[in-house]
Amino acid sequence: MSRTLIVSNRLPTKVSRSSEGELQFSPSEGGLATGLGSIYRRGENVWVGWPGQYLDSPEDEQRVTEQLTADHMQPVFLTEQEIKDFYEGFSNETLWPTFHYFAQFAQFEPHTWEAYEAVNRKFCDAVAALAGPEDTIWVHDYQLLLLPGMLRERLPEATIGFFLHIPFPSYELFRALPWREQLLRGMLGADLIGFHTYGYVRHFLSATERLLNLSRRDGLVETGTRAVLVDAFPMGIDYDKYAEVAASEEARRLEHEYREALQGQRVVLSIDRLDYTKGIAQRLRAFELLLTRHPELHNHVTLLMLVVPSRDQVAQYQALKEEIDELVGRINGQYRTISWSPIQYFYRSYPVEELSALYRLADVALVTPMRDGMNLVAKEFVASKLDQHGVLVLSERAGAARELSDALIINPTDTSQVADTLFEALMMPEEEQQQRMQGLQAIVQRYNIHAWVELFMDRLAYSKIKQGALS
Ligand code: UDP
Ligand code: G6P
Repeated sequence: MSRTLIVSNRLPTKVSRSSEGELQFSPSEGGLATGLGSIYRRGENVWVGWPGQYLDSPEDEQRVTEQLTADHMQPVFLTEQEIKDFYEGFSNETLWPTFHYFAQFAQFEPHTWEAYEAVNRKFCDAVAALAGPEDTIWVHDYQLLLLPGMLRERLPEATIGFFLHIPFPSYELFRALPWREQLLRGMLGADLIGFHTYGYVRHFLSATERLLNLSRRDGLVETGTRAVLVDAFPMGIDYDKYAEVAASEEARRLEHEYREALQGQRVVLSIDRLDYTKGIAQRLRAFELLLTRHPELHNHVTLLMLVVPSRDQVAQYQALKEEIDELVGRINGQYRTISWSPIQYFYRSYPVEELSALYRLADVALVTPMRDGMNLVAKEFVASKLDQHGVLVLSERAGAARELSDALIINPTDTSQVADTLFEALMMPEEEQQQRMQGLQAIVQRYNIHAWVELFMDRLAYSKIKQGALS
């Protein structure tokens, strides 16, 4: 029977250790894991990836393998050095900042590049050991850009799709990478390469043309031996799941509890992994400006800010954590009263029922990334608004802004505009809120995760037929 092998650096389940040293299993955060989390258990599908924790004994690896394989997952274990050089190093200190236009944070270290190659090779071995001739291999994201090319060499006939969950940057940024040709050639091992938006597709095509001198025709890049299809597939969410959780007894109960505690405050909600791409510090400054400009809002509006710990061994992330702690302290210190705290800040991860209760509760979702491949939080907020009350304020630099035109779209670096738009959102008449939310829900419901997977798989099958016709 044919299966899909999903391959990504991070598995949808992560392993951690309790304070007593016991192994614990919990859902992973981040859009890739939550988005595909609804579909990988279909049929005999398997998800190949890293469980997010260094394990120092074969017994622990054995235990984790047993637990994960029972749930359609095949772990790839990384050593401590690989975590440092491949994951924290090349993936998150070289590719992540470059692809998100934070070129000033990017480091170019030959030894982390070598680790990146070696770990991509490790994934190649793991996938090749599993894949049958009928299987479809679907590789995800920037940690595995070399994998499609490595798999193509090993399994020349395989059906291989690749999807990038982050932006593909403009040529001027991409060309700074000393390993730019190898990275492009790695991606071009796939039959189909998908991005969230046409903008990212354009940047990728421009890079292949200028750096590899490859010609293109009808969305196909000619590599000399093969033609690779490149297209945009904006990722969706499991709409029905989010709507169902929002309708659940537990989400309602939690919302009620939070509402009581907030005593009639209007709620502005912000949810992200701790990441400099998310514009968290800029958002805090915009909220501060709102409070400066509108004293009448004091005591009446609260920013609920959830920040999920992420990549905390990487220096830039540690520096950002300090900056956020300081900003929250400063703003609360200046404005808080005995009965009101302008910002309620939580630095931890939440289960989906609690997120759902917060989405239900919020009057405004404030999503202001400097750069974001898509941003699923914006879509989850929309799907959870069963009563169609609430306003989405969304950065023009999130992939989601291309689809969600009924949101209030802002430029995240324009603090003054963000503050004014936030005020507009808080003042928006109920009828307009409903109208906009209806428009947003129609889009998010229609282009959901199931439609996304189906479309990608259809195009992948089509690209294989095209290949056959060309050879
Ligand atoms: N999320 C989570 N736990 C939390 C907060 C957020 O699992 O405590 C999820 C959230 O529901 C969303 C994902 O993390 O599905 C974030 O995805 P997004 O595309 O917004 O950003 P990314 O983290 O992938 O950059
Ligand atoms: C983004 C990336 C994913 C990554 C996630 C969480 O969504 O596109 O590939 O898994 O962030 O980051 P982490 O480093 O914890 O896997």
